[in-house]
Amino acid sequence: MRSTSLCLMLCSTLLSGTVLAENQTISLQQAYSPYFSVGTALSERQIRDQEPGTLDLVKQQFNVLTAENIMKWEAIEPVEGQFNFAAADAMIEFAEANNIKVIGHVLLWHEQTPAWVFQDAKGQPASKELVLSRLTNHINAVMGRYKGRIQGWDAVNEALNEDGTLRQSNWYKALGEDYIATVFEIAHKADPKAELYYNDFNLFKPEKRDGVLKLVAALKAKNVPIHGIGEQGHYSLDYPELQQVEDSIIAFGKTGLPVMITELDISVLPFPDPENIGADISLNMQLKQEFNPYAAGLPKAVSDQLSNKYLQLFELFLRHSNVVQRVTLWGVNDNQTWRNDWPMKGRTDYPLLFDRKNQPKEVVPKLIKLAEKAGK
Ligand code: G3I
Repeated sequence: MRSTSLCLMLCSTLLSGTVLAENQTISLQQAYSPYFSVGTALSERQIRDQEPGTLDLVKQQFNVLTAENIMKWEAIEPVEGQFNFAAADAMIEFAEANNIKVIGHVLLWHEQTPAWVFQDAKGQPASKELVLSRLTNHINAVMGRYKGRIQGWDAVNEALNEDGTLRQSNWYKALGEDYIATVFEIAHKADPKAELYYNDFNLFKPEKRDGVLKLVAALKAKNVPIHGIGEQGHYSLDYPELQQVEDSIIAFGKTGLPVMITELDISVLPFPDPENIGADISLNMQLKQEFNPYAAGLPKAVSDQLSNKYLQLFELFLRHSNVVQRVTLWGVNDNQTWRNDWPMKGRTDYPLLFDRKNQPKEVVPKLIKLAEKAGK
């Protein structure tokens, strides 16, 4: 049985800045490697190594990386034909040097796409042909640059409404309802060996889950190359019910596609707008302190609830590891998390596995033990 002196080991490493002997402990990614890969998402600051200790922690604990923002359209091609590859290059070089896999995020999303994509030279709505040629050029340029170096791409992100119908996004309006198949086809041509995923939030909701099942069935019926379903996993202490998560994993597994938990975080804060749980970033409410109860620190009782929820979820993922291929946390530490700013800017949330000083939370060694107990 491998030793689990993780907390002691990490704390001393981070304080002293020294590299630990490999045989001292095992990490999250090592513990879970018989079951699924364990990933994280990096901010630009982290990728550029401007956050002390973070990249060392990432090397130890995670074996797959996603860029939290720098590969989105507005970041990588802000002006038509002008690409900012520097940060993505740096992340991929770091990953390759450390034997870590990379997931591309994201080829097509209705958010973070510059307005010019949908406009012609006169500022009028661009024709279908023009939008399609821009989409094709974008995918060819980005996937072409990293061909063979990226395991899989979130090809299409958040294309469904909460009731499972197709979102009437700019993409839908410009390209018509077959646009999702088109993206997968263009992407497959650009890098035939890259896996291509459909990625969305709130897939534990039966209506939205069924929308994905319908979409996947339609894509498969046309032999469109889709290789996985990404369930984002932006959760809270109050939702979702574990059974709902389990039902969605089982239902997706029946399609024959693997499931990736792509953006896991568990908010401990009260959600100010219960009708709109999830991750729709257009929600933007004014800060109210009653919704920011833990600015001075997290009470032990709440921290215990967070631990329990993580343990329950990982136990579930382990039980379905024939289907679940990857679990990616949406960030390394609580300092970085987007949940501090959504749906209200300036709150203090605690949704990840490492705290604001990159110290492992008490649940980390417990998660490692859980995997060890599973016995593979
Ligand atoms: O880079 C600019 C910076 O130049 C500017 O000064 C600053 C001022 O606000 O904004 C910076 O951009 C921010 C960007 O993150 C980079 O930090 C945006 O305002 C902010 O809206 C953006 O938020 C990201 C959000 O997606 C929108 O792209 C979050 O960090 C990121 O965690 C979040 O991730 C999404 C997934 O991609 C898709 N699924 C939902 C998930 C959570 O919303």
